[in-house]
Amino acid sequence: MSKTKSAFFCQNCGYESAKWLGKCPSCQQWNTFVEELVQKEKSKGGNDDWKSYNGERKNKTVPLNEIISSEEKRIVTTDGELNRVLGGGIVMGSIVLVAGEPGIGKSTLFLQNGLHMKGISILYVSGEESEQQIKMRADRLKASNEDFYLLTETSTQIIFQEIKKLRPQLIIIDSIQTLHTPFIESSAGSVSQIRETAAELQRFAKETNTPVFLIGHITKDGSIAGPKILEHMVDTVLQFEGDRHYAYRILRTLKNRFGSTAELGIYEMTGSGMRAVSNPSEILITQKEEHLSGTAIAATIEGLRPLLIEIQALVTQSVYGTPQRTTSGMDLRRLQLLLAVLEKRGGFHFGVKDVFLNIAGGLKVEDPAMDLAVLCALLSSYEDVPLPMNICFAGEVGLSGEIRAVNRIEQRIAEAEKMGFEKIILSRYNQKGLSNLKTNIEVVAVGRVEEVYNLLFA
Ligand code: TYD
Ligand code: MG
Repeated sequence: MSKTKSAFFCQNCGYESAKWLGKCPSCQQWNTFVEELVQKEKSKGGNDDWKSYNGERKNKTVPLNEIISSEEKRIVTTDGELNRVLGGGIVMGSIVLVAGEPGIGKSTLFLQNGLHMKGISILYVSGEESEQQIKMRADRLKASNEDFYLLTETSTQIIFQEIKKLRPQLIIIDSIQTLHTPFIESSAGSVSQIRETAAELQRFAKETNTPVFLIGHITKDGSIAGPKILEHMVDTVLQFEGDRHYAYRILRTLKNRFGSTAELGIYEMTGSGMRAVSNPSEILITQKEEHLSGTAIAATIEGLRPLLIEIQALVTQSVYGTPQRTTSGMDLRRLQLLLAVLEKRGGFHFGVKDVFLNIAGGLKVEDPAMDLAVLCALLSSYEDVPLPMNICFAGEVGLSGEIRAVNRIEQRIAEAEKMGFEKIILSRYNQKGLSNLKTNIEVVAVGRVEEVYNLLFA
């Protein structure tokens, strides 16, 4: 006889408690506990249908020295950006979580990649869309693949039965939040279901050496909805992000057991699927022809890639008592800090101005090296003097108004040169290491905010 049991789960981090709690002792969030039914059929002991999949395999203890190290076998996809974020291709037996807000293009990207991968059999399990809908999307992507199989199902028991029949070499689950296992009573998408279904798939991936992609939705605040627990169960966590109103999407590695986490892939959403963008700077700098005040180009590094981005600032007379500060794509507190530096160290009266700041293309950038460009965009708008179009900036601004050195300066200079800039303004402290750098671009070193002002506007 089965015993019905319920437990309370924190919907934020997955913490389990026997009674309801107001505040989660694990993640300190309030009001996140929800009761979920957990029914365990002890006699069955879980979904282990694939056990006989590739012969009986028993795990036993082995001395580490006796394990022969082998090069990780990877499936190299046709999508260079995806290979890059995965650290060089899909590792056999790895489990990869792809998280992103609804509508960002996760299903499109993985359907497209599945259809383009030739020579291996792929199973795409969708719990969200019907076969017709997926077919329509595939037609739109103008891709077809004989070894691509589709299953619209949400019960893991049935999914594993199909897997056993088909023996695919790659599995894509869209999405983990729609799956449910019959061994747990609570509804699909609840913490206990997500945890259990992901655990079943993880055991499957490890024991059969089949790579599995799990697509998961994230909440508005950017946390992977409920299943923070998933982050440590999987080998790799990729986050797909970008503003839905812009065409650019960034695929970022948050965790990777088989490669660097500093990698980043850039895509453009087009009418016929995702297009990998190999030279992002070219499209991010938009209005190069027009001569407008308030724009400056920053030489930033995202992940390991240099990226030139356009910063737009608008400084206007404030009509209310409290001036407004609005940013998109940049941390608001960072802007406030830079304004305070300009007010105190440069004597500019931003206290009576409204300030709006925007990073073109809908990107979110955190690199402190863009400080100098932000500062120059602000000054350009404040003075209403356009900056010359052939210069770009790389430098961090300190609290006392000093321009600080930034990392990977050679890479930034090289990217600026490649994009046709003639002058780059950077920190004096960066200049030392550059004495024997051969470049055609003019390197101008500055030490303080006042120097920058005198150089550009005086
Ligand atoms: P989708 O992959 O369904 O997002 P997710 O799975 O992350 O929820 O993508 C949804 C959006 O993508 C939808 O608004 C339409 C758009 N889209 C295109 O712009 N071009 C295309 O070729 C496709 C298939 C979708
Ligand atoms: Mg989807």
